Amino acid sequence: MNTTASNAAASVRRLVRQRLESLQRAGVEQLPRRAPLALDVVTEADSSSVPPTSVPLAATTTESPPERPLPQDEAMPRGATPRSKADRETALAVIRCEVENCTRCPELAATRTQTVFGVGNPQAKVCFLGEAPGGDEDAQGEPFVGKAGQLLNKIIEACGWQREELYILNVIKCRPPGNRRPEDVEVSNCRGYFERQLEIVRPQYIVCLGATAAHALLDTTQAIGKLRGEFHSYGKAKAVVTYHPAYLLRNPAAKREVWEDMKMLMREMGQEV
Ligand code: URA
Repeated sequence: MNTTASNAAASVRRLVRQRLESLQRAGVEQLPRRAPLALDVVTEADSSSVPPTSVPLAATTTESPPERPLPQDEAMPRGATPRSKADRETALAVIRCEVENCTRCPELAATRTQTVFGVGNPQAKVCFLGEAPGGDEDAQGEPFVGKAGQLLNKIIEACGWQREELYILNVIKCRPPGNRRPEDVEVSNCRGYFERQLEIVRPQYIVCLGATAAHALLDTTQAIGKLRGEFHSYGKAKAVVTYHPAYLLRNPAAKREVWEDMKMLMREMGQEV
């Protein structure tokens, strides 16, 4: 195991130990044989048998991508995914740690300032899924903090929500150089990460911002124009497809359509529009 991978494994072990100690302090003396957390922990001892939904700590782009897990409840028997906020935070922290040490895409790993994992409420009802970090996100380590992020914040506010109550993530965790579109192999390399994030947060609604997010989540190549205006299924979640805020910055006229999409979602949620 190389140094980066062994550092990652050590961080993962530390996080799991902390969680177990906290459960012990709370009076929990036994855990079921199959741990309730869907933590795909790769330790030095078991690194030869990586579970199908986990992503190896270090791999190259030439490898075939990890087997695509079934979304959410289809993939997990009831009770297998973390439920409490603390358990979800721990499970997300484990994936974050893997992401921070990921070198699956050599170009992205070599050019990123840092990885950009995801932010928000691990029990969010609504998730926003973007494409990939830009320059501001690469500098600050948080999704949607640049100009597109400011516009996204306005959309969130217009819906009567607060950013902190949602969960915001990207398909790709590293900034593509020059903000180019992520390549298919990069999406494949990162798929295991965003799918596991969604598996843990288990939102009821997912808003796909732009084509990369919609295509990656819904496994389709249909144009946004065709995907908008209806709900799609992702496991038990309902997914809405709309234009990316960066597109709206270039084409403000499309804000009207985004607002229609958000109103459709709010109505579905039983929220007053
Ligand atoms: N665009 C995205 O898709 N994601 C970000 O985090 C920022 C800009």
